[in-house]
Amino acid sequence: MLKFPVNFLWGSAASAPQTEGHSLGNGKSATTWDKWFELNPEKFHANEGPENTSNVYEEYINDIKRMKEIGLNSYRTSISWARLLPDGKKINQEAVMFYRDYFQTMLDEGIHPIVNLFHFDMPWWLMEKGGWETRESVEAFHFYAKTAFELFGDLVSDWVTFNEPLVHIECGYLYGYHYPAIIDLKKAIQVGFHTLMAHVYAVQAFRDTQNDGRIGIILNVTPTYAKSDKRQDQEAKRKADLLIIKSFLDPCVLGTIPVELSELLLENDLTPDILSDDKKAISRNLVDFIGINYYQPMRVQAPREIRHPAIFPTDFYESYDWPDKRINPYRGWEIYPEAMYDVAIMMKDDYGNIPWYVSENGMGVADEERFMDESGMIIDNYRIEFMKEHLEYLHRGIEEGSNCFGYHTWTFVDCWSWLNGYKNRYGFYRVDLKNNYQRTVKKSGLWFKELSKNNGF
Ligand code: BG6
Repeated sequence: MLKFPVNFLWGSAASAPQTEGHSLGNGKSATTWDKWFELNPEKFHANEGPENTSNVYEEYINDIKRMKEIGLNSYRTSISWARLLPDGKKINQEAVMFYRDYFQTMLDEGIHPIVNLFHFDMPWWLMEKGGWETRESVEAFHFYAKTAFELFGDLVSDWVTFNEPLVHIECGYLYGYHYPAIIDLKKAIQVGFHTLMAHVYAVQAFRDTQNDGRIGIILNVTPTYAKSDKRQDQEAKRKADLLIIKSFLDPCVLGTIPVELSELLLENDLTPDILSDDKKAISRNLVDFIGINYYQPMRVQAPREIRHPAIFPTDFYESYDWPDKRINPYRGWEIYPEAMYDVAIMMKDDYGNIPWYVSENGMGVADEERFMDESGMIIDNYRIEFMKEHLEYLHRGIEEGSNCFGYHTWTFVDCWSWLNGYKNRYGFYRVDLKNNYQRTVKKSGLWFKELSKNNGF
């Protein structure tokens, strides 16, 4: 039996914009998702927009009971910035009542809440001013963070500033998946830097506001593996690590921006606008913990053609198809649980063994109803196997001294996922879109209950 550390967090993660519903009601103002859906509904899988998420705004009390039923002892969600502060300044009291009751109910049921401030949901009023491209976003986020700590700090002890900041940077400014769907590497770097500073000043607000508790950031640390030992492939891996891993991990944990990253940006005319106090602020506002979302690794090789200065990440590194890779046939992503161990050891050796947890790991499956039995239960043995394999490698890392305090799956109830809508299902509970978002537990939910009860498997 593999046993995990005492008080290990067993839970799931989700976000406000993907679960709450009532996206244009109850005092909430629009986000980029609401506007983008209004402008281009055809971009969204099956025309499902942010209004059609799983109605947690009304269902949270029952959902928290369901969490307990399958053994979750912790849960991460986010606050919607546009719900709490519809115009960025004035507090929406209905939102305060909702979030206070949401977090209090979790506590009453013995579920430890971890609360995130930003999960890709930029308020529209700020986007109209340039969103993360403008420095104003840093001040606006500082005010939002401070307000949230003051309003909910008595209930929430573990806070997170951002979920996967690389995603809103890459998807919004390089790959066209998120609004404003611009393709501009220089802007992407500036957006990244403002996001980093928003994080840093939110940490500062936390230290000024809350005396106890912890604050962290959640990063999609996609481990990179080079195609070969050849100098060019290793160089591509080094650059990918700088841009994908160290760009946020180093400043957030160590308080420094890697010199090599600054040089790389300078050589390519990509240095962002930095204010005189920024580096000092970075060095003074370190996180207490890190969350790591891990789904699949990245295989990199040297770019076939190098443009200088670079205008796209493929000028630094290219992905390549590893011939030995195992694929999740229902989502197309690589399955490589070994990376869980590599991440655990990296956190121990390179980041001072800071406390960290797996903040998302899971298996997306399209058309999951094909695995439903006569009783209506989804028999998702593939998901159980996927989690077991990842936990085995995680356990090995913990045994070697990595300071991991929990494992959260994506996700608890199947949820809406941006342009993919409800295409890929990840939940422990199936959600029935034709039947008022009714929830039915899957086999993996019952398995997770045993896992959590035994603190291992
Ligand atoms: C995670 C994000 O990286 O991936 C979630 O934090 C997202 O917001 C999840 O829903 C699954 O993505 P997809 O594209 O498979 O639905």
